[in-house]
Amino acid sequence: MQTLQNDLLLKTLYQQATPRYPIWLMRQAGRFLVEYRKVREEVGSFKGLLENPEKAAEVTLQPVDILDVDAAIIFSDILVVPESMNCPYLMEEKKGPLFPNPVRDWDSLKNLYLPDVYQSNLRYTLEAIAITKHKLQGRVPLIGFCGAPWTIFAYCTEGSGSKTFSHAKRLLYLNPEFAHEFLELITQATILYLKGQIEKGVDVIQIFDTWAGILSKEDFDSWSLPYIAKICDAITEVPIIVFAKGANFSLENLNQLKCNAISLDWNIPIDIAKKQISKTTQGNLDPCLLYAPQNILIQKVNHLLEIIPENHIVNLGHGLYPDAPRENVIKLIQYVKSFFKK
Ligand code: CP3
Repeated sequence: MQTLQNDLLLKTLYQQATPRYPIWLMRQAGRFLVEYRKVREEVGSFKGLLENPEKAAEVTLQPVDILDVDAAIIFSDILVVPESMNCPYLMEEKKGPLFPNPVRDWDSLKNLYLPDVYQSNLRYTLEAIAITKHKLQGRVPLIGFCGAPWTIFAYCTEGSGSKTFSHAKRLLYLNPEFAHEFLELITQATILYLKGQIEKGVDVIQIFDTWAGILSKEDFDSWSLPYIAKICDAITEVPIIVFAKGANFSLENLNQLKCNAISLDWNIPIDIAKKQISKTTQGNLDPCLLYAPQNILIQKVNHLLEIIPENHIVNLGHGLYPDAPRENVIKLIQYVKSFFKK
């Protein structure tokens, strides 16, 4: 295995001392960069880019070259997993994902299957990982990722994004057996996919449970957490970061997972979260803070860095918004990189 020149992220995940905090940003490989938009336009569509491993590797490397972050995250999407299971989606411009055939009953579930990760659409991302690892030459670690089973279930049953996800949630009450069976199938497909990512060289895995927060604590603990736990138990090769957005009601349970870090949204003060988490933490900065004047941005980041103990990865509480001011993003990264621990 190639040694990493910048091992700040890995060391922080293993709770080893580092001279400064690592920083990377969720959705750093995305529309916020004009350089990304240019490649995306050349290729013509989001899915075209996803299925072009050379170009996917190129946009994965952009934030490392341009922003000088401490990690790369592979350019792909969480929705490639249901697609590989025979539940395809379209990415509608300005509207987001659309599943023409939502899976809401046993008959539709019967049409789904576990993917062959090297033959299905997943192969594009696996190839992009191999190319990216080669091009990175060990400069920084590469993060692979997946959606949490609950979040994937929510998209596949709802058929699109939603404010309420009432189709998805209704199934939990009306057809719990179906829901558990579908969640289990997604979990097994996800584990196969993550094993493929690890084989191609990802150094870290992040699990995104974007829609954790639409569940009550009780429902999160029964419908989301157990399936995240199965993934964490199955993936022993690389460290795992779990991001369950809006699930601050279950931090103590998240802390019991076999994972290395918990990524936090901005709805909980870091000192309160830290009382419930013994693992490394990540995130917690409001993405909208990037619209603030630079002195306020620095003041807030300084406050975070002054009060957190050792083990923290600087990041936002969710993805970068496409209109985040570039100069402020660069300022944030440069500031964190110049902040040496006492
Ligand atoms: O830089 C990175 O973080 C790597 C790439 C990445 C993308 N999607 C690229 C993308 C990652 C990690 C994701 C994860 C993802 N995808 C999540 C979990 C994280 C989150 O943001 O909550 C979710 C819920 C999705 C599903 C998804 N993909 C939606 C709802 C949308 C449309 C809304 C939007 O943000 O545009 C996408 C599209 C998408 N995925 C884009 C990118 C760069 C934008 C589409 C484009 O470029 O045309």
